[in-house]
Amino acid sequence: GFTVVLKRSGREVVVPAGKTIMEVLKEEGIRVAYSCQSGVCGTCETRVIEGVPDHRDNVLSARERERGNVMMICCSLAQSDRLVLDL
Ligand code: FES
Repeated sequence: GFTVVLKRSGREVVVPAGKTIMEVLKEEGIRVAYSCQSGVCGTCETRVIEGVPDHRDNVLSARERERGNVMMICCSLAQSDRLVLDL
């Protein structure tokens, strides 16, 4: 698991193994935009302020993955213990 910090509200949520960031945010009542929930549409693209995403989507290019400043929160996870997102 890893911790997600929501920059705009300062809230922190823990994403346990086997869950997605989006699932946890929804459980916490945090509204997020999404559509496919499987990493293909790009609707859930979110800016990464700190931390290293573990990209699992089919939207971003290799270059964007490497840059690491955006991620699809419906499917991608974290390589770092903590991600700070622009949410
Ligand atoms: Fe479609 Fe995340 S909701 S890529």
